[in-house]
Amino acid sequence: NQPKVTIVGSLNMDLVVTAERHPAIGETLTGEKFTTLCGGKGANQAVAAARLGCDVTFIGRVGNDAFGKEMIENLKNEGVNVGHIEMIDDVESGIAMITVNPMDNTIIVVPGANANVTEDVIDKHRQAIIDSDVVVTQLEIPIETVDHVAQVCGEHNVDLVVNPAPARKLTDNIINYSTYITPNQIELTQLAEAHPEILKDHVDKFVVTSGSKGCYYSVDAYRVDVPTMKAEVVDTTGAGDCFNGAFVSRIARGENLEDSCNFANVAASISVEKFGAQTAMPTIEEVETRMRR
Ligand code: RIB
Ligand code: NA
Repeated sequence: NQPKVTIVGSLNMDLVVTAERHPAIGETLTGEKFTTLCGGKGANQAVAAARLGCDVTFIGRVGNDAFGKEMIENLKNEGVNVGHIEMIDDVESGIAMITVNPMDNTIIVVPGANANVTEDVIDKHRQAIIDSDVVVTQLEIPIETVDHVAQVCGEHNVDLVVNPAPARKLTDNIINYSTYITPNQIELTQLAEAHPEILKDHVDKFVVTSGSKGCYYSVDAYRVDVPTMKAEVVDTTGAGDCFNGAFVSRIARGENLEDSCNFANVAASISVEKFGAQTAMPTIEEVETRMRR
């Protein structure tokens, strides 16, 4: 019996260049390799959750172009229910220009069709949200839409995980109706600046990822650190998405916060050892094997 997870989010084609370093402003640098890979925070999280045993439904939009077709096909091959992904005319599919080098990456996202995931899209596919064990969303679609998702989840008592990436000012509905908010360290700082009271009033909702240090959350204002395993880093793109997809896959089964965090840490540490985002998402067997080590 697989838990039902619905992801409302972005699909991007990742145009990935590897180079030994980033170019300086005005410099032309010769890179090493160019790859196109299906990405987008929403789609990456969907693939992670599907490989980790969830029944995943995706709500989103792509353009009526080659990238759009490929991204839908790809999610379908991963076993994701793509019946709620709309292909729309006159807008191109979302893309991300990614530069990967041995130290870090830079990403520029052009949202395209993801910016067209409007509130009416949510109303059209509302039933999928209501039927879910957990709904997941990120901030690569309009904030009004995320707000609307939060309202629907609130009305129907559906658990909602909000991955505030990239960080933006949240709405009251998002803050009040989310079950968990999962920023990384940088996004947490940005959220705390935009909402000075958020960590005082809602600290128990936060699960904060901190890379090689794992993650932490709070219980009655006490910080609980969940350390992760050592990894041989190849490419960290999508590690946060892996954490979120894996975290949700355990929460949706009714597992407790600590076990879910631990599982998600291990999954993410496997994902950084492989190139790409979705290409690096582990299966349950891989996570379990790593946990025994
Ligand atoms: O989190 C990684 C993702 O961010 C990439 O796949 C890229 O598409 C951007 O959305
Ligand atoms: Na990776």
